[in-house]
Amino acid sequence: MPGPTADLFAEDALRQPAGREQIGEQSYVLRGYALPWVERLLPELRRVLAQSPFRQMVTPGGFTMSAALSSCGDLGWTTDSSGYRYTPLDPRSQQPWPRMPGVLRELAVLAAAEAGFLDFTPDACLINRYVPGAKMSLHQDKNERRYSEPVVSLSLGLPAVFLFGGHARSDKTRKVSLFHGDVVVWGGVDRLRFHGVMPIKDGVHPVMGPQRINLTLRTAG
Ligand code: SIN
Ligand code: FE2
Repeated sequence: MPGPTADLFAEDALRQPAGREQIGEQSYVLRGYALPWVERLLPELRRVLAQSPFRQMVTPGGFTMSAALSSCGDLGWTTDSSGYRYTPLDPRSQQPWPRMPGVLRELAVLAAAEAGFLDFTPDACLINRYVPGAKMSLHQDKNERRYSEPVVSLSLGLPAVFLFGGHARSDKTRKVSLFHGDVVVWGGVDRLRFHGVMPIKDGVHPVMGPQRINLTLRTAG
């Protein structure tokens, strides 16, 4: 795709996995970590989304989230007027969520190890789709049964500014730019830190199109 948008992202193709940046005591951005995996991941992601398509969900407070959500794994995260929770069935189809692709699990386990978490056994992966303008308000990931295992978050497509806060909603947040192929891991003393995503800027990513897809793997059950 010609034009300034393509130029903006042309460098994605040239990026190499480039080490880790520490953003908290037990939190790291692994730059470009997933790039060598993307080609294997995308067909699996398409399979998952054919079975459980993205849908917009409503918070218990009655707001429709701007990001559209899906899940794969033994458990999927959902929200509706009665609350946030993990369920074994996709509420839309009343069928189990799609199985977690082996390649996704493998990538997440290796990324967790890279960040110092050696026994990551994810059973849930939330998939968020952001179109330009969509965002994620500050929140804690706290519907999981155990906090001893980290959260591993993989970003694809348009760039985002990830907000990484403290243990109180009002704590100062650090702004971390995330690009196609970056993986963030937070756990241990940082496991319950508030985090969110600023509104995604307009653009068309050469591989993913006009969207950002984020996959967060957790141990929920
Ligand atoms: C999330 O916290 O569920 C999503 C984070 C992200 O999109 O980077
Ligand atoms: Fe989260």
